[in-house]
Amino acid sequence: MQTYLHGRDLIGDLDFSKEEVETVLDVAFDLKRKRALNEPHAYLRDKVLAMLFFFSSTRTRGSFEAGMAQLGGHGAFIDSNTTQISHGDTPKEIGEIFGRYFDGIAIRHCDWLDGNKYLNAVAQASRVPVLNMQCDIYHPFQCLADLMTIIEKKGRDLRKKKMVVSWAYAASYLKPISVPQSLILQMPRFGMDVTLAYPPGFQLMPEIVGMAEEQARKYKTNFEIVEAVDGMDIAFKDADIIYAKSWGPLLTTADKTEGKKLQDSYKNWITDERKMALAQPDAIYMHPLPADRNIEVTDEVIDGPNSVVYDEAENRLHAQKAVMALTM
Ligand code: CP
Repeated sequence: MQTYLHGRDLIGDLDFSKEEVETVLDVAFDLKRKRALNEPHAYLRDKVLAMLFFFSSTRTRGSFEAGMAQLGGHGAFIDSNTTQISHGDTPKEIGEIFGRYFDGIAIRHCDWLDGNKYLNAVAQASRVPVLNMQCDIYHPFQCLADLMTIIEKKGRDLRKKKMVVSWAYAASYLKPISVPQSLILQMPRFGMDVTLAYPPGFQLMPEIVGMAEEQARKYKTNFEIVEAVDGMDIAFKDADIIYAKSWGPLLTTADKTEGKKLQDSYKNWITDERKMALAQPDAIYMHPLPADRNIEVTDEVIDGPNSVVYDEAENRLHAQKAVMALTM
């Protein structure tokens, strides 16, 4: 167990070593137990977290704000549109100034090619930890909650478990690529064999894929990519964990109209009961939400017995409280 995480940022999934992530998980399970027993756990009394949002949220805002209150502190919700950022406040000024008011700065900034750069620029100027509530490259807190959920459903020994991280069709908008990128980076460290599946044009960042392959080599797990028009059917076979969600073809085109046209070519990439039947009978279905119902996934699957989406959403709270309690 690594007990000194005080002052540390969490921006990318590999910022914490495997041992440090194990510490986060231990603390998260303890905090989950404490909340179930109604045991007070005010580890952050009088501390305040700035929660700066450049993009909408249901779960992230709710769980960070509730988490800070349950830890005895306060989460200050700040919509970037209500600040002077568009009138000139630089990331350096946000880091310097918020770092003097607050005990931590959490930021959601998902704009492609800008978000991660913004978080790192704030972190460089900040004297307090910067926590990534999702950027264009990573969604580390979603990934920690997902890992907690997988351990709860499949046990601590995840070696030889097949996890599929698959693209799915969505009609609403071009979703960020941060969730699949975080998953392929973190899950190999915990023993899972990861299969990444997507149709042509929906590849992830080559440097992230390279890092995921390196983690898989280091932890002696299997990492494979299925890039094919019928990739969902190929990848789902015998899987223990199905994580199928949409993302935009950002490495092919950042143009919204062109991206939507490409996305619309693969409307058959929906998680339905037929595809779930290709996986193990006890395979779990995961999605970070929000999902495009009956487009990304059918109601039968997302509301069915193999779906764990609400446990995933709940575990956001416990995983985030663990990181906040350890770093702030
Ligand atoms: N999964 C997730 O990050 O949800 P929100 O976008 O609602 O915060």
